[in-house]
Amino acid sequence: MRIGVLTSGGDCPGLNAVIRSVVHRGVVDHGDEIIGFVDGWRGLLEEDYRELTLDSVSGILAQGGTILGSTRVQPSKLREGVPAAKAMCERLGLDGIIPIGGEGTLKAARMLSDAGLPIVGVPKTIDNDIACTDVTFGFDTAVSVATEALDRLKTTAESHQRVMVVELMGRHTGWIALNAGMAAGAHAIVVPERPFDIDKLTAVVGERFQRGKKFAIVVVAEGAKPEPGTMEWEQGSIDIYGHERFAGVATRLSGELERRLGKEARPVILGHVQRGGTPTAYDRILATRFGWHAVEAVHKGAFGHLTALQGTNINLVPLADAVADLKTVPAERYAEAETVI
Ligand code: F6P
Repeated sequence: MRIGVLTSGGDCPGLNAVIRSVVHRGVVDHGDEIIGFVDGWRGLLEEDYRELTLDSVSGILAQGGTILGSTRVQPSKLREGVPAAKAMCERLGLDGIIPIGGEGTLKAARMLSDAGLPIVGVPKTIDNDIACTDVTFGFDTAVSVATEALDRLKTTAESHQRVMVVELMGRHTGWIALNAGMAAGAHAIVVPERPFDIDKLTAVVGERFQRGKKFAIVVVAEGAKPEPGTMEWEQGSIDIYGHERFAGVATRLSGELERRLGKEARPVILGHVQRGGTPTAYDRILATRFGWHAVEAVHKGAFGHLTALQGTNINLVPLADAVADLKTVPAERYAEAETVI
């Protein structure tokens, strides 16, 4: 068989492990020919691809990023490109296409699948917010990087008796903030799923200082917002792909806490550090399993599905189910953390 693979959207540790796994399973076990589209959907639309051999994926398992490159494409451009993509698929004799991506990519994958292309998706995002899969690869790495950063910030916060307000990624969901916050013992965690109450946050941090503690760590997911009407709040701007660009929740909260508490506060925005570098062992294994199962799905003709971790098994789930809703942090998980505002 001839199978195309591409990586699209924001990158994520573990993408190379999926690519390598697709090539190993396809070439070695099935005698397939694997091609990689360059820069995600752009490569597919412009027929920019290269052959992926065992040699070309040698040594990439532990590498962050993606050897294929990744870009975002506006959904309208992709919609217009459907007839060309179908023609290209026939011309290249593709039996399957494996797009590896997050919410936006999987929605695009569903559209192409509905148009008749032989698609099997693989979910990826450090945000862990794809429905139907218990975990996405990249998440464990991001949580580990964020936890190490929080541990390091504790020592400098204590030396200077400061409040550190640490912004972690998560535009719609607070999975990274909740898990890294729990792992590092943060004193307050603010997530997008729960609009925060600035009075309550001030009281939690202030009470800690009253108990004689010298510092506080507040973790906030980038997409967190206050309860409407409780604090002045500018909306972020909307980028060319229709995504909200956030205007620095940590900077705003840190200024507000410093003013209200009379304690020095500093914002720290961890940003893309969370997405870079080598994947953890957990992410390498999950990514490798996803790649293996995606090739099997192509061979079975199970198009219109994506690979998903459910319990300890990798199952195939319809793309339509996976993109219907985001997987948000359930309320029961907040109760287990120290203080979720
Ligand atoms: O979707 C993953 C993510 O890391 C989000 O948490 C974050 O908002 C976004 O990507 C940032 O993307 P970009 O690389 O376009 O700045």
